[in-house]
Amino acid sequence: MNNFQNLCIYLILIFTCSFVICQDIPDGRFELSSALINDKIYFFGGATDATNSSNEVFYIDLSSTFDISTPPFKKASTGMPVGDNLGTCVSTPDNSTIYLIGGRMTSTSTAVYKFDPISLQWTIPIINGFNNSFINRNEINAVIDSKGKTYIFCGTDTKPGITTTGSGNWFYEMSIFDTTSMTWSTLPLPTDVLPRVDYTATLLPTGLIIYIGGFTKLTPSSTNTLPSFTDILIFDTKSLSWSNKTASGTTVQQRAGHSAVLTKDGNIIIFGGAKNNVQVYPDLAVLNTNTWIWSVPSNSTVNAPPSLSRASANLYKIYMIITFGRKTSQVAVKPWVYSNNIYIFNTETYSWVSSFNEVSQGAPTNKNGTSTNQGNLPTDNENSSTYKIILYVVISIGCIAFLSGLVVFYKKYCKNRTRLEKNLMSEGLHNSDLHDKEKHSNIVL
Ligand SMILES: *[C@@H]1O[C@H](CO)[C@@H](O)[C@H](O)[C@H]1NC(C)=O
Ligand SMILES: *[C@@H]1O[C@H](CO)[C@@H](O)[C@H](O)[C@H]1NC(C)=O
Ligand SMILES: *[C@@H]1O[C@H](CO)[C@@H](O)[C@H](O)[C@H]1NC(C)=O
Ligand SMILES: *[C@@H]1O[C@H](CO)[C@@H](O)[C@H](O)[C@H]1NC(C)=O
Ligand SMILES: *[C@@H]1O[C@H](CO)[C@@H](O)[C@H](O)[C@H]1NC(C)=O
Ligand SMILES: *[C@@H]1O[C@H](CO)[C@@H](O)[C@H](O)[C@H]1NC(C)=O
Repeated sequence: MNNFQNLCIYLILIFTCSFVICQDIPDGRFELSSALINDKIYFFGGATDATNSSNEVFYIDLSSTFDISTPPFKKASTGMPVGDNLGTCVSTPDNSTIYLIGGRMTSTSTAVYKFDPISLQWTIPIINGFNNSFINRNEINAVIDSKGKTYIFCGTDTKPGITTTGSGNWFYEMSIFDTTSMTWSTLPLPTDVLPRVDYTATLLPTGLIIYIGGFTKLTPSSTNTLPSFTDILIFDTKSLSWSNKTASGTTVQQRAGHSAVLTKDGNIIIFGGAKNNVQVYPDLAVLNTNTWIWSVPSNSTVNAPPSLSRASANLYKIYMIITFGRKTSQVAVKPWVYSNNIYIFNTETYSWVSSFNEVSQGAPTNKNGTSTNQGNLPTDNENSSTYKIILYVVISIGCIAFLSGLVVFYKKYCKNRTRLEKNLMSEGLHNSDLHDKEKHSNIVL
């Protein structure tokens, strides 16, 4: 290999290293919690190959374009005060705070932690009337309304370090955490409402919470089953009452650990999940909450990601962002494979895309679907991208300076060596002696 090649490899290595350091690539994981605030999605904990209850916090900035092959993960330097999986989190309506609620927490002193997305710091909030029986509540999914009231349905008390789901004691109640008045209350379930865990919860603008899938139990002592996807459970946050809807349309296989988002036009898009750790079909389905009809958009199978269970899903503008999750397939084979990828689903064309299209990104559209955005891109993140560019420039200058030094050193070395070799040749010395002299010459140099 010639010296130029060596130099190139060295250069590439340095740049790769600085790139990797800036990117904070997370381990694959599932059973995490996530929340969207402004242009950032925060990811909390989850289970990885290395731990059942991670305390790591990652986030991604969605204000600039990226390709799904290079997701721009950042790791918060301070982790959570506890490890956590199978919990839930909500962001307050003013986007000032994220509450991490429940999950298989590695400490059982409380079940609610407060996260400040600006300082990335954690505190334990004081909640009036907090119900201590909620400690260690997991396999839950919370929603928060526009007034800051959080609704958390059922859950189990399965301990951290146990990897099964749907087991443990189940709680027949709706826990309500008002993040405005900082009060807690517990509503028991009426006898005609069956409990659920590992469901999805979606709040409609009308104040109805739509519960889909997960596990249920016919009686407290019976084994758990997966409710049909035609069986939609509804809680009205205005009247605090329960009702049912029977959905029709395409058959959607029962599952737990799926994810859901709500689009602006009232469609709930569900993705992934599993039944006995096995892949379920279809991977992606849409429930129209006006007609209660399930459908599978034809575009949604093109360029689709692998089937994932207990991933995170967030709607950012017109995009459903799927992150992490355990890969599922037609047979449940260990070792499990955890994803650290991001997949992006355009909820207007119902198709998977490999990057954001900045111009169409969340542009308000009129009735005939024409974009009314004049091409003005969001600018509130200019500071952070400027910082990034400066960082890269500084790193690059550092690298170039270092390499220039190296080249000067190398040239000097070559020159000395040539001179030395010439001298040695004329003196008629052997190769072994040459090496000795070479070593010597290095020291002199
Ligand atoms: C909070 O962030 C969400 C998600 O980007 C955004 O839709 C919403 O308008 C923000 N709310 C406020 C009050 O800034
Ligand atoms: C997770 O918990 C299970 C069951 O307790 C245990 O066997 C396994 O070693 C744990 N995994 C890790 C990575 O700690
Ligand atoms: C606290 O929760 C338990 C069950 O989880 C329930 O029995 C009890 O009534 C709740 N306490 C209050 C004050 O609501
Ligand atoms: C839901 O529907 C079932 C029958 O499909 C019924 O037995 C149950 O009482 C209903 N629950 C509510 C809250 O309406
Ligand atoms: C399918 O995707 C294509 C290209 O993204 C788009 O033009 C088309 O309208 C989509 N079809 C539906 C039914 O949304
Ligand atoms: C789309 O709607 C706008 C205003 O509503 C109208 O001016 C325009 O002609 C329409 N375009 C098409 C292709 O229908």
